[in-house]
Formats: sequence, C-alpha cells, structure tokens
Amino acid sequence: MAFDDIVRIEQLQEGPLEEGEWLANKRVFIRVDFNVPLHKKTGAITDDSRIRAALPTIRFAVESGAKVILASHLGRPKGQDEKFSLEPVGARLAELTGWEVHLPDDCIGDAPKKVIHDLRVASAGLRGGPQICLLENLRFHPGEEKNDEAFARSLAELCDVYVNDAFGAMHRGHASVDALPRLIKDRGMGMLVAAELGALVRLVEAPARPYVAVLGGAKVSDKIDVIEALFARCSAICIGGAMANTFLAAQGRNMQRSLVEGDKLPLARSLLQKADSVGVKLHLPVDVVVGAGIDALDGQVVDVGAVPLDTMALDIGPKTIAAYVAVLNGAKTVFWNGPMGLFESAPFAAGSFALARAMSGLAGFTVVGGGDSAAAVHQAGDDVAAGFDHISTGGGASLEFIEGKRMPGIEALRKGARS
Ligand code: 3PG
Repeated sequence: MAFDDIVRIEQLQEGPLEEGEWLANKRVFIRVDFNVPLHKKTGAITDDSRIRAALPTIRFAVESGAKVILASHLGRPKGQDEKFSLEPVGARLAELTGWEVHLPDDCIGDAPKKVIHDLRVASAGLRGGPQICLLENLRFHPGEEKNDEAFARSLAELCDVYVNDAFGAMHRGHASVDALPRLIKDRGMGMLVAAELGALVRLVEAPARPYVAVLGGAKVSDKIDVIEALFARCSAICIGGAMANTFLAAQGRNMQRSLVEGDKLPLARSLLQKADSVGVKLHLPVDVVVGAGIDALDGQVVDVGAVPLDTMALDIGPKTIAAYVAVLNGAKTVFWNGPMGLFESAPFAAGSFALARAMSGLAGFTVVGGGDSAAAVHQAGDDVAAGFDHISTGGGASLEFIEGKRMPGIEALRKGARS
C-alpha cells in the first residue's frame, strides 16, 4: 500500500516560502475525529485522547497563520439533537490550547462563514491569541452520511484548503471525508493520519513473525472479516471477551448465562476449522471469571467446563492469562483489538490489564486499535500506554485497514481523485 501520492500538511506550501507559510491566511478545513465518549448521565467527556491526538496538526495550521476550521461528527444523531452538540469538545479544546474556540450553531451557511471571515489568526506580536472555528456536528445534516454532493459543496464554500486528520472516520464514505476533498485542489493528510498509516501498514505488509493477534469484544460477527484477513498473516490468535463464549459454546461448553451469539455457532466452528487448515493456532480461554451479571460486585474463577448455573463469563481467568502471555512472549508483531472482559468493572478488569501490561513490555512491534482496548491500555497505567509502539485512534477504521479494504477517506486524498 503506497501513500506517497497523498500530500502531507507539512508539504501544503508552494514556492520558496518558509515551511507552512503558504497556509498563512488561508481558510484551512481540518476534518478531525472528535467522536469522543461522553458520560451517559452528565454528558462530560470521559476520554479526550482523540482531541489530544489531533493537536499537532491543528497547532501546525494555527502556527502557520491559517484560519483554522475544525469539523467532526459526534455520535450517531438522527438529525439535530443537542445531546450530540460539539460544545463540550469546544470547551475542552479551549482548555487544552488556551485559544478561543468559536462554535457557530450550524456547520454550513452564513453563520460559519461570518465566524471564519472574522477569525483572528496567529501572527507575531498578536494580542489576545489565535481564534479557531469548530463547526457544529456534521451529522446534524443528513447530507453528511449520504455523501451528498450539495452538502459537500456547502462545506467547500467555507475553505481554500482541505486536510483530513480523522483517521477514525477514514472508512466512512461520508461527505466531509469523501465528496468534499474531491472538490478541493489543495488537500492533504494531517500528522495523525500519516502516523496511523505508517504504523498500521507494518501489520499488513510483510509483518515480522511470529505475529500474534489478540481479539476480544462482544461479537464474532463483527470480527469475521478481520479474523479471515489475519489467518493470512498471523502465527496465532488469542480470543477473549464475550466473543470467546461463542467459540466455547460452539465446542459444546455450557456457558450458562454468558453472552453467546446462538446463531453464530456454525460460523465459529468453521473459523476454528479454517484456523486448523491454514496452520494458525487459535487460542481460547481455559478458565473465566464469572459473575451474577454485569453489575456483579465480585467474580469467581472457574474452568470453562464448569461455569455455574445462573452466572456469566465476564473476564478471562488466570490460567488463560498465563497461557496468552506465554504466546505473546517472543512475538515480533502484536495487534490487539477488543477487551478481554468487562474491564470497566474492577472484578473483571484483570485479563485486559494483564495482557496490556504484557504487550507493553515486549520488544516486538505492538499496536492496539479500537476505542475500548485503547481505553483499557490507558487505564492500565501511563507506563503501560507508553510501552506500546502505536495506539490507534481508529476502531472500525483500523480493522478495515487491516482487512485490506479500500478506505474512502484515503482514496479521496490521492492525486487525481475527482468527484
Ligand atoms: C469511531 O468512533 O469509530 C469513528 O468516529 C466512526 O464513528 P461511526 O462508527 O459512528 O461512523
């Protein structure tokens, strides 16, 4: 996979000017992925990593004297819904940067045009600091998800230059990701997207072996494509989380009240057979931590053949942790997607945290992708997070990249891409 026909933001200048100077006074539209998790009751941001990850690109544009316009989706609103306003994101951005963040109440039309026109840009001796514009949730307009040309044109009216730094949304064929950049000649990728592509490509093109993938999360059905893609490259796959229950049930284990996708048992059986036939070792838990339900205050370790009546598996057990750590030791490439259990709840966090710690100590190339597993890595400790080579901001996007799928956001940035 080559990305050398995609311009980087640092190269978006022409002629014999200082680096970045070409962006001065230009209206630079940066598509970011500020789809951050919000607290269910208070609406407060519970993890601002995606905002922090976009800061280098935003700072570069601001410091180049550009008029910076940030655009993102948040959640999956059905039309205009205040619950999904980007207001808390704007407030956090202002806190992190010390800049004034203006949030017009619509992402297209006269309101953002006026804000952008009046933006104070960074310049020497500036009093009051720079101002930036954060557009309101793109998904408040149905045209965004429909990749509507007219909606893209309305966004195009706001800017001279387009930068995509929203790696987490690159797999969406939506107007701000696909139709819009095709309308703008001066376009490129931001620093986060460049870093993501640089890291993830190492999992796809001649990854160093042994290559071990650790997959968790709720559903086998969400991971079929990635499992199939990993069969072609991995030496071993360790399965945890609720999706392990479906594999165990497919082997005839009685998982009692555990989450099992009953209609996916044949699929799980065929994946087990396929792993065998291609020589990939597919590891399943040998013990689990069970609880009475997801609100359980304590757990009990049992073998997978002895899950007690009226309980559900909520984490992998200590024997499984030891076995998976042994598989990981010596791996030259590791990819992790999906937690091993209900790590948000202390009695069921040990599996995810132990694997995070084990991976972070490896000498091989380690990547974690996916909102929940990345959150588990951060919760396991700053030292654990620092030990990973790459923590992807993309959940679905990192999986699709590994599956080798064509990503609309990447294709639209390529030289010659036209609407
Ligand atoms: C994500 O959180 O994976 C991205 O922001 C994409 O969000 P979506 O799945 O709602 O398109």
